[in-house]
Amino acid sequence: MPEQFRTAQFPTAVVTGAGRGFGRAIAAALVAGGTRVIGIARDERELRAVRDELGDRFTPVAADATDETLAQDVIREHGPTLLVLNAGALPHMAPVHEQTWETFSRHWHVDTRHVFAWTRAALRAPLAPGSVVVSLSSGAVLGGSPLSGGYASAKAAVRYLRGYAAGESERAGLGLRFVTLLPQMTPGTGIGSAAIAGYAERLGVDRDTFVAGRQPILTPAQFAKAVVEVAADPDSAPEYQGTGSGLQPID
Ligand SMILES: NC(=O)c1ccc[n+]([C@@H]2O[C@H](COP(=O)([O-])OP(=O)(O)OC[C@H]3O[C@@H](n4cnc5c(N)ncnc54)[C@H](OP(=O)(O)O)[C@@H]3O)[C@@H](O)[C@H]2O)c1
Repeated sequence: MPEQFRTAQFPTAVVTGAGRGFGRAIAAALVAGGTRVIGIARDERELRAVRDELGDRFTPVAADATDETLAQDVIREHGPTLLVLNAGALPHMAPVHEQTWETFSRHWHVDTRHVFAWTRAALRAPLAPGSVVVSLSSGAVLGGSPLSGGYASAKAAVRYLRGYAAGESERAGLGLRFVTLLPQMTPGTGIGSAAIAGYAERLGVDRDTFVAGRQPILTPAQFAKAVVEVAADPDSAPEYQGTGSGLQPID
């Protein structure tokens, strides 16, 4: 097994949103590296399919990842040294005047809230020194999300949470590392597919033409490999953009 795929320094990891998309690919990469993965999502059927594929090193937990008690209980019971906070809601694709406050604020209530819950639990438990928390923001933070409601702002809050948590870890001498990733839109996953369909329609092009204009495209397997590498690198940058050309640190 190549060096970058050995994840023995993380005997147990939590991956939220592990039922499909990026989360499923990240769980697969970690299990392949020797890590036991607690995979969280609400859809039991999807989690069972992941378990069938990955075997008994994957423990499915069908639950809402925004639940603070869940975060505390899972950390206490399983003692993970890596959290990958990847769960995210499907965007309601519409321009701002066709959003409601509920659709506009959706990502605050799922994406941001779950990163808040798990980050808080990681600091309060606390996780063992040397543990790593990787959270998913989005490249949309840099350019806005005019058709995805409050998505970009909710994902910007994820970036702030990383900085706040890293500061508190340092202040308390906890030895935790927090990293945030900002991947580009990719067609291989649920949220990426929904976003691409919406933005392609707005531009009046079909999906394939839209995707062809954004090569090289980031694949879930490529992104999962990058997540594992960043998690394992004690000298990682705090934030990275993710594109089909790989991860680039953000200054
Ligand atoms: N794909 C892209 O183009 C792209 C680009 C930038 C950032 N991202 C970010 O990357 C992450 C993964 O995106 P993806 O495209 O892989 O999405 P996806 O294929 O739709 O998968 C999302 C996962 O999150 C889970 N989830 C959603 N709400 C949840 C909740 N309340 N509790 C537990 N699990 C929940 C879903 O399972 P259930 O519905 O069964 O709960 C599913 O397993 C998201 O945070 C997304 O915003 C994606």
